[in-house]
Amino acid sequence: MFHVAHPGEFAPSPSGLDTLLMKGPLARILRSFLRYPWWCTLTLLSALGTTLLGLVFPQITRYAIDEVVAPGRLDRLPWMVLVLVLAFLLRDLLNALRVFWNNQLEQQVLLDLRQSLFSHLQRLSVTYYEKHPSGDVVSRLIDDINHVERVMLDGTEQGVVSVLTMVGVFWMLLNLHPTLALLSLLPIPLLLAGALAYTRGAHKRHRKIREMTGRLSAYLFDSVSGVREIRTFSAEGHEAERFHERADACKESTLSVMRLWGVYSSSMNFFASLGYVFLLAYGCRLLAEGGGTEFTFGDFSAFLLYVPMFYQPVQRLHGINQMMQQARAAAERLFDLLDAPVDVKDRPSARPITERPAGRIEFRNVHFSYSANVPILQGIDLTAMPGSVTAIVGTTGAGKSTLVSLIPRFYDPEEGAILLDGTDLRDFTLATLRAQIGIVAQEPFLFNGSIRENLLYGRRTANDQEIRDALEAAHAWDFVSQLETGWDAPVGERGVRLSVGEKQRLAIARALLKDPPVLILDEATSSVDTTTELHIQRALHRLMEGRTTFIIAHRLSTIRKADQILVLEKGRICERGSHNELIQQRGRYRQLHQAQMEPI
Ligand SMILES: Nc1ncnc2c1ncn2[C@@H]1O[C@H](COP(=O)(O)OP(=O)(O)OP(=O)(O)O)[C@@H](O)[C@H]1O
Ligand SMILES: [Mg+2]
Repeated sequence: MFHVAHPGEFAPSPSGLDTLLMKGPLARILRSFLRYPWWCTLTLLSALGTTLLGLVFPQITRYAIDEVVAPGRLDRLPWMVLVLVLAFLLRDLLNALRVFWNNQLEQQVLLDLRQSLFSHLQRLSVTYYEKHPSGDVVSRLIDDINHVERVMLDGTEQGVVSVLTMVGVFWMLLNLHPTLALLSLLPIPLLLAGALAYTRGAHKRHRKIREMTGRLSAYLFDSVSGVREIRTFSAEGHEAERFHERADACKESTLSVMRLWGVYSSSMNFFASLGYVFLLAYGCRLLAEGGGTEFTFGDFSAFLLYVPMFYQPVQRLHGINQMMQQARAAAERLFDLLDAPVDVKDRPSARPITERPAGRIEFRNVHFSYSANVPILQGIDLTAMPGSVTAIVGTTGAGKSTLVSLIPRFYDPEEGAILLDGTDLRDFTLATLRAQIGIVAQEPFLFNGSIRENLLYGRRTANDQEIRDALEAAHAWDFVSQLETGWDAPVGERGVRLSVGEKQRLAIARALLKDPPVLILDEATSSVDTTTELHIQRALHRLMEGRTTFIIAHRLSTIRKADQILVLEKGRICERGSHNELIQQRGRYRQLHQAQMEPI
């Protein structure tokens, strides 16, 4: 089997025997409890104490009937009351401690799990996010983990107490009257068989519920982000149908489990009641035949109290079994995410970049494809000298964005290599490599926070003066200073409260703060007014100064000034040179150029 190593405690164990013993998703969670042996011990001890003390009361009742009432020894009454009160007090005190320790333990394990999941999410390559809708990922971390939490909180606590109670009660019953004890517990094998059958059937159904919930959440995410498009296309009716279809699937899958649960829990209840029937029938006979000498009335009343005490936890265990099936399905989805391989990661020999690189970038025979048999880049060779500007032009879908996304290693080439100052990018640690690269996207992404918070992503340690300088250099200070709250103004989700031109200038300021030797620009195709355009152009030129720049260029002004222009066609560089050289070649570039110059 293929194992991926992860930081954190939830990594699958590499040892064969261990995986065999602890292979289930719930076992993996339970195993993580063992990392806190003290809390485990305290929880178990207090549960044990609570249970044992609970077993005392039917015995005292028996004592009251047989030793106090029957012989008329009322002098024993005060002592009995005292023992009773003390036992109650101790039981509830221990119970309080059990709840406290138990929750402490479970919340800690849950926090560990959440953190492992989040840190894994941070490491997963972009490919994972391309294949899994964001809503589904979020639903795993919020919804699925909640189901695991429930089973950990209620399941382990009640499960342990239930089992302990059953063992204790069983022992008490055996001591009181073995035959009657076995008779009243006769339905147990039936209950076990029923539980097994239910477990089989419910797991599949629960997995379906979890999947459907993930799908619903993914849909909601999508439709909430696309709210403008829905309005534009007046698609509200259609969207309501799509929502209904998914919500209905959730309902149906839940109902299918609940129907099964209805049959299961009711039939288990019926079988369990048979135990009481056997007890009454045989107990009455014993009393009648023996005249209450060998098997006393006190014994019988203890039985009448103990038997329900046995079946109550059985009932609870059924409920826990139901929760466990739910949690198992949820935990599978959690571990599915936690075990997702990280495609792009540090080589064991990777070293950090400690000095500022000159910024020479080379592609050597780079091949890349997103899916097998569909080559996107085919044999790319190029060299970008430090501080030079490389413009990439070509028709849509030619592979321009793909080419530049290999530089920060969003993906790795399938063949060939990319080098920074002569060293393969894969020989550097990812974090320090990405620190050398600035990216300004076509429509930049801003986080839901203030302008200042967004700029600090460029450099965490930047002070107010540096932020202001960056904003000024990016020609963004004008509009930022006019905002009522200045740079503390919230930008909204993805920066929706700002115009495209404003977002671009903020992204430029953010890149200026980062001050990377290598820069990637995806020029905006959407047109802004000429004054803004001029501002952005100036800001960009300021940003490009002294940096090795790759620019996916649409504007002639940018292309003209580039040191080299690469014309990309179907994943290959078909022409390269300066603007004048390429115009003289009368090839593809000239065609593209002329198409742009033609009046519409
Ligand atoms: N994440 C992805 N998964 C699968 N295929 C992709 C992915 N991104 C791009 N592609 C495909 O790869 C090809 C090249 O895409 P790319 O985005 O690099 O083109 P481009 O030259 O930047 O085009 P444009 O000028 O329209 O931005 C396209 O056919 C596209 O469908
Ligand atoms: Mg593109």
